[in-house]
Amino acid sequence: MKTSIINNPADAALEITAGRIVALPTETVYGLAADALNPSAVLKIYETKKRPDFNPLIVHVSGIEEFEKYAEIIPESVFKIAETYSPGPITYVLNKNSVIPDIVTAGIDTVALRIPAHPLFRQVLTMCGKPIAAPSANMFGRISPTTAEDVLKELDGKIGYVLDGGRCRIGIESTVVRFEDDKIIILRHGFVTKEDIEKVTGKEVTTLKGKASKISSPGMLLSHYSPHTPLYIAEDLEYFKNVNANAGIVDFGVYRDLKETALNLFSDLRIADEKNFNYLVTRLVENKGLGRAINDRLVKASSGRAVVENGSVLFSKK
Ligand code: TXA
Ligand code: MG
Repeated sequence: MKTSIINNPADAALEITAGRIVALPTETVYGLAADALNPSAVLKIYETKKRPDFNPLIVHVSGIEEFEKYAEIIPESVFKIAETYSPGPITYVLNKNSVIPDIVTAGIDTVALRIPAHPLFRQVLTMCGKPIAAPSANMFGRISPTTAEDVLKELDGKIGYVLDGGRCRIGIESTVVRFEDDKIIILRHGFVTKEDIEKVTGKEVTTLKGKASKISSPGMLLSHYSPHTPLYIAEDLEYFKNVNANAGIVDFGVYRDLKETALNLFSDLRIADEKNFNYLVTRLVENKGLGRAINDRLVKASSGRAVVENGSVLFSKK
């Protein structure tokens, strides 16, 4: 199959309506989209990405008024967060009703709903009149794409079209938040931070760690967002600047702030990955606010590989 980059959202909407999959831009990363109410179209997403069938997909809708079509109970906190952050990079995990097919949610009883902000994605939603299921448009485990060209590097020959919406303005995925009784739990850190959510809801927000997060958000695997070149996390990049090995240094310290780091995170990893280094080295950012989402991606991209200052391997999963 030849993959073409297109510019007209109407062509993308036609693809989705016809039960095919197409890559669409969002403000976070590019998504691989299908009609969420069409199980055979959704199956194509899993097959194309080689995504494990236990990992549920996010369903994108045009506005908060759509939530009651697909979710059972919508807590007040959801509306409070949405007032400020939707449309935008936040995903609400709510108890599902039977309208969304089981394949979308990998058989679990919750559904992840997001209202994307990208104008082209919003036009496609309006033209289709259907909820759209879309994971990031990368092969499973790989770096998320933030341009149409990145999507081609991942999926060329596997899909018909990529709708070009330019470079994603955020560059890191949405925050995935579970609402359970009165509790608010972050399942995946993203652009909207724990502090942002606490501020608008006036409630404490918790984060799942370790085993609990695997059960509640099955997609949270240790190895993810990975370059082909092994990525190590070091405490001090200076050491590697002087080592005469073919090491690619990915230094996010060059950016002015965490937003700029998030914007360049996946593209810098992808560029370094294309340069034939023996390995890549990076360091974590300060672990607060948006830094949590950035560090989460870096740790997963390194599959748990870390080194101490003098270059010796502290812990390696592989
Ligand atoms: O910014 C984003 O969220 C992008 C754009 C395309 O919208 N999408 C994205 O999708 O990052 P994906 O599939 O790469 O990541 C979705 C995450 C996975 O970790 C998945 O396990 C989790 O959301 N998720 C989806 N449905 C869930 C559910 N019902 N319960 C818990 N976690 C869920
Ligand atoms: Mg993904």
